[in-house]
Amino acid sequence: MKGLKIALDGPAGSGKSSVSRLVAKRLGYLNVDTGAMYRCVTLRAIWDGVDFEDPKALAKVAASCRIELQEDGRVILDGQDVTDEIRKPIIDSRISSIAENEEVRKILVAEQKRIGAQGGVVMEGRDIGTVVLPDAEIKFYLDAAPQERAKRRWKELGKRGVNVSLDEVKHEICLRDKKDLERSASPLKLAPDAIYLDTSNHTLNEVVEIVLAKIQGVVRTHEANKRPCL
Ligand code: C5P
Repeated sequence: MKGLKIALDGPAGSGKSSVSRLVAKRLGYLNVDTGAMYRCVTLRAIWDGVDFEDPKALAKVAASCRIELQEDGRVILDGQDVTDEIRKPIIDSRISSIAENEEVRKILVAEQKRIGAQGGVVMEGRDIGTVVLPDAEIKFYLDAAPQERAKRRWKELGKRGVNVSLDEVKHEICLRDKKDLERSASPLKLAPDAIYLDTSNHTLNEVVEIVLAKIQGVVRTHEANKRPCL
């Protein structure tokens, strides 16, 4: 099963990061969390005191960031481990200015396309099946009810020691979803050839097994199509 491009898109809290990581591990593929890249640019812009109303200044930040996504999931920004820092609520509240910036997207998407070009990759984000890897052999769109997504995110924040109420998390997620869905630059949308999965009533392991089974099906179809006719 070497060499496939697998795209995983969906809103915040849909489970795509965990699913992507586990599926990539099972297949021996590279896992690429593109949200971490947008988070890094947001963090760098905050650190540098950049005006978030200045799109050109934000694009300059994106062009200068050196982002390393390590195999163990750690994220290194300009030589510094920012794995926990980029998941903090301050990043969630500022990231939309970065994500809606066309120039920033051009820079990050070019890098994501470069990483994905060889195949053997599970890439997750908002525009992977539509913009970054439109030629992916298999595309998934993961979704879940807003209350369930908020609960997941709230638990994750709790594990990281971030103390916020479930209502605050729900409000933040709804706001971010709305911006991701409505922005003009590469909005979050279901690719016409994506498999839609509602994960609300499934455990993480169940979703991983469903995704792996679908991938197996695609691989078998590819192989059958390649067999010469008798
Ligand atoms: O996936 P995650 O929640 O870490 O993404 C954070 C934010 O980064 C999203 O809400 C979205 O605004 C932006 N993003 C994006 N395109 C991607 C990945 C993330 O616009 N491919």
